[in-house]
Amino acid sequence: MTELPVREGNADIPPREVRDWWRDAVVYQIYPRSFADSDGDGLGDLPGIRSRLPYLAQLGVDAIWLSPFYPSPLLDGGYDVIDPRDVDPRLGTVDDLRGIVADSHELGLRVFVDVVPNHFSWEHPWFKAALATAPGSPEWDRFHAVRGKGPEGELPPNNWHSAFGGPAWTPIPGHAGWWYLHLFDTSQPDLNWANREIHEDFQRTLRFWFDLGVDGFRIDVAHSLVKAEGLPDGPVVDEDEVMAGSERGPAWDQPGVHDVWREWRRVADSYDPPRVFVGEAWVATTEAQAAYTRPDELHTTFNFHFLRAFWDATVIRDVIGTSLLTSSAVGAPPTWVLSNHDVWRPVTRFAPWRDAHTMDIATGRRRAVAMSMLSLALPGSAYLYQGEELGLPEVVDLPDEVRQDPTFFRTEGRVKGRDGCRVPIPWSGDAPPYGFTTGTPWLPQPADWAGLTAEAQEADDSSTLALYRRALRVRRESPVLGDGELIWRESGHDDVLAVERPGERPILVLLNTGDGDRAVAVDGEVLLHTGEVSLDPDGALVIAPDTCCWIALA
Ligand code: GLC
Ligand code: MG
Repeated sequence: MTELPVREGNADIPPREVRDWWRDAVVYQIYPRSFADSDGDGLGDLPGIRSRLPYLAQLGVDAIWLSPFYPSPLLDGGYDVIDPRDVDPRLGTVDDLRGIVADSHELGLRVFVDVVPNHFSWEHPWFKAALATAPGSPEWDRFHAVRGKGPEGELPPNNWHSAFGGPAWTPIPGHAGWWYLHLFDTSQPDLNWANREIHEDFQRTLRFWFDLGVDGFRIDVAHSLVKAEGLPDGPVVDEDEVMAGSERGPAWDQPGVHDVWREWRRVADSYDPPRVFVGEAWVATTEAQAAYTRPDELHTTFNFHFLRAFWDATVIRDVIGTSLLTSSAVGAPPTWVLSNHDVWRPVTRFAPWRDAHTMDIATGRRRAVAMSMLSLALPGSAYLYQGEELGLPEVVDLPDEVRQDPTFFRTEGRVKGRDGCRVPIPWSGDAPPYGFTTGTPWLPQPADWAGLTAEAQEADDSSTLALYRRALRVRRESPVLGDGELIWRESGHDDVLAVERPGERPILVLLNTGDGDRAVAVDGEVLLHTGEVSLDPDGALVIAPDTCCWIALA
């Protein structure tokens, strides 16, 4: 193995002084409405989450992140917040959250909650107060109320799109010619971050949950908030492009937003131990992304460039390489994300397919799991989305009548939306609702998920769940996994990625994205493999296609 040439060093990453937990935490995302229901109303809730914490501790993750559980009309799955310092009564109480924090800490899990600073729900008291006044009022100054174009103001103030489709502007009722801005759904009016009151209110929210014991926040659309002065027209992009990423134009990634993160960092640093942030910023480049994690800003951001990599060793290698370089330039750890509540589940994304009826889900699952195992072996922090450890596929055939994603409505059904990755988790049993609830799940579960339940997989050593548990154990036990260095190795095949985690007991990670078996000369002990591996007559390791393998080097 030592003969393998170094492809491209990454040893210029300076060693760290402090080993902060968030630098290499594996964070498990919980989408509360779809995780576990305790009271039979078909909607997952906080007591349901609390009852499943031992499962997560058993899985071996380091932290959980809860998507919003705040009071909400649920017009955007809870990302439309009425009161950011309370819990939706359907999901529980602030005391339930306190219980989750206490139990999590007891189990060695940290807790992130979500904060949504770009907008409130239109049912937030501030928006209701604004609606009761005329544009120009102090109440409206908390939002963006703008005179439209055209003689009567009958045209929207600019050409911005909503990220969910359609225009980003809605007429203000009762005040002809005036519009309010919403980068997302009409029910999510954007906040005006030029108004100091907004800053103060969000700092109150941060402190409210920090004081209660949460360890950090996941920041929703951290690249919006501040808009270009004068709200100028943006580049004309087609709707699909807007919805794919909302990355360009005067509504996104403005320099001023970084001041907000500096302010927030001071709040987090005022706690002992310091609290942490992970930002959601769908920006165009890894450099732009890294700017969010400069030393006095956010601790980490989601790496969506990795999420978008497709099944090709060269593409994957490039995105890992640039992610490492750009994050190390600002001293932040990279993160590895394959899945969340906004994107197609990777099992289906990686499936070779011609149309919705001819998807090769088995291959998709092999690839998704292999990618996930690769990501768990990379330096930095990794994210798992609930159900990823069960190998759940995207539910692509939800009937239109059950869909709830505003994207579906705003595009008149042209874009199906994100409900298919939010289908409730199958815990046990042979048929829906698979132990998720005693009632009727808020989204229907497929009839063929019996083999995918946590219960079924717990009983099977060869299951996807068993593999994740194994990987997370090895990751915890190995001194070279988690934060640290990475060395690219030459596998001898363009379609086999070879990554070494150097150190006292080095680990080599191989990923075969090719279409056949590949032999790699390597001397060591196989710690984990997602597909077939064997030895050829020359003693080389033969790795099957769509397979990731971790090897403890001799
Ligand atoms: C983020 C959330 C997404 C939500 C949007 C608007 O992208 O992840 O679910 O719809 O922000 O808040
Ligand atoms: Mg419930």
